[in-house]
Amino acid sequence: MERTCILIKPDALQRNLLGEIIGRFERKGLKIIGLKMMQLEDIVLEDHYEHHKDKPFFGKLRSYMKSAPVIAMALEGLDTVEAVRIIVGPTKGREADAGSIRGDLSMSIQTNLVHASDSVENGEIEIKRFFKEEEIFNYKKIDLNFVYSEDELED
Ligand code: CMP
Repeated sequence: MERTCILIKPDALQRNLLGEIIGRFERKGLKIIGLKMMQLEDIVLEDHYEHHKDKPFFGKLRSYMKSAPVIAMALEGLDTVEAVRIIVGPTKGREADAGSIRGDLSMSIQTNLVHASDSVENGEIEIKRFFKEEEIFNYKKIDLNFVYSEDELED
C-alpha cells in the first residue's frame, strides 16, 4: 500500500470546509492513518517549501500558511499519491475541473485549500515531517475487501 500526506490549509479552516474535504477522502475509500491539527512555524515551512523559496510568492505563501492552524493527514491505499492528486486538482482553483476539491471549492492559486504530496518519495518525507512515529496508526480497516478486489489486494 502507498502512503501520502495532505495538509488542509488555513483557508479551509476559516471557510468551514474541514468536514467537506476530509469527507471526500473518506468516501473515496482511502484509509486515514494519521490526522492532527497543528500550527506551522517558519522552520518547517522553509523545509516543506524548499523548492519554492526563491519564488516571488514565497513570503506571502509562508504568512498564509502560518495565519491559522492546518490539519495534517496521512492516507494509505493503492496508488494513493496519484488518486489524491486527482481528487485535489491542479494548483489554480479557478482552472481546476469541477468534481475536484479545488475545482468545486477554490478560485485562487494561493488559497487553494489543500496540499498533497507530489510523489511517493515526498509522501514518505512529508509524513515524517508532520507526524511522530506514534501518531501514525496501523489498524485493520473492515471495508478493505469492498473498496478493492481480492486481486488488487494480492498485487
Ligand atoms: P501547493 O501546490 O500545495 O504548493 C505550493 C503552494 O504555493 C501552492 O499550493 C499555493 O498555495 C502556492 N502558490 C503556488 N503558486 C503561487 C503563485 N503564483 N502565487 C501565490 N501562491 C502560489
